[in-house]
Amino acid sequence: VTTPSRPVCVAVVGHVEWVIFARVQRVPLAGEILHPEETWEEPAGGGAVAAVQLAKLAGEATLFTSLGDDELGHRAHRELQDHGVRVEADFRDVRQRRAFTFIDENGERTITTLGERHGPRRSDPLPWEELAATDAVYFTAGDDGALEAARQAGVVVATARELRSLARARVAVDALVGSRRDPWEEYTRGDLKPPPRFAVRTAGADGGSYETADGRRGTFAAAPLPGPRVDAYGCGDSFAAGLTFGLGAGLDLDEALAMGARCGAACLTGRGPYRGQLRLAAERPRTTGSL
Ligand SMILES: Nc1ncnc2c1ncn2[C@@H]1O[C@H](COP(=O)(O)OP(=O)(O)OP(=O)(O)O)[C@@H](O)[C@H]1O
Ligand SMILES: [Mg+2]
Repeated sequence: VTTPSRPVCVAVVGHVEWVIFARVQRVPLAGEILHPEETWEEPAGGGAVAAVQLAKLAGEATLFTSLGDDELGHRAHRELQDHGVRVEADFRDVRQRRAFTFIDENGERTITTLGERHGPRRSDPLPWEELAATDAVYFTAGDDGALEAARQAGVVVATARELRSLARARVAVDALVGSRRDPWEEYTRGDLKPPPRFAVRTAGADGGSYETADGRRGTFAAAPLPGPRVDAYGCGDSFAAGLTFGLGAGLDLDEALAMGARCGAACLTGRGPYRGQLRLAAERPRTTGSL
């Protein structure tokens, strides 16, 4: 995989979930009581996971998001900054969205979300104009205006989970990323007008496949795991972050997919979403104001 020689300016427009993790031998059966071997909590969700991964690749990343104006929302804000992310958040008068995740003895994650998913709105007082000077953005949540703001960037990658918003906003995305095993992320040619340049479908240890807007199909291989398998939470969004970074750096699709695959594999080797994530860049000094 090529490592870009110039700085790549990256951002995420998306959501954050406060996640409680419980490591168990297996997910409980109906009616059981389980005693986890280990529990911990941290800010996660697709927008947060990808922003932290992007900061580790690019040295810096900005997350445009919306957080609950409560203890967990503010704690998420602090902890994501501690992970090297510049967080541009609108604090809304709602409870921070939470989630509960089992990690079983194979490292598989089983997630229950609690509360609504909050993306940023264009009317939120965030530095949207900066996105015009951004190489690549990953979109996981936000209103139509937020998506249009994201489109000012050189490259836009979006999660297939937001297919409905993407269809409604009629904003062209460069790459759409969905997981084969997730029925909420199903994309069929024709769902989006204009269509994404690349529709990517991930398939865990099998890597994945893609289809271009002109109907060309291809596959990509998974990368070797750089360590033992620990915890699958966040592989998909770490993959998407790697792809976003690669496309933003001007890599071709195959190289950018390989970068994504390295990130997805690395994420699997650490506890929670962040510990295993691939790091390429030293963190750049934190800036305030302009990028
Ligand atoms: N067991 C594995 N070995 C190597 N690479 C993997 C493995 N699992 C995932 N990956 C990498 O991560 C990418 C995304 O994984 P996957 O398809 O499981 O996403 P996902 O279902 O969205 O995951 P999650 O929702 O848990 O984040 C894959 O395309 C692959 O490149
Ligand atoms: Mg996923």
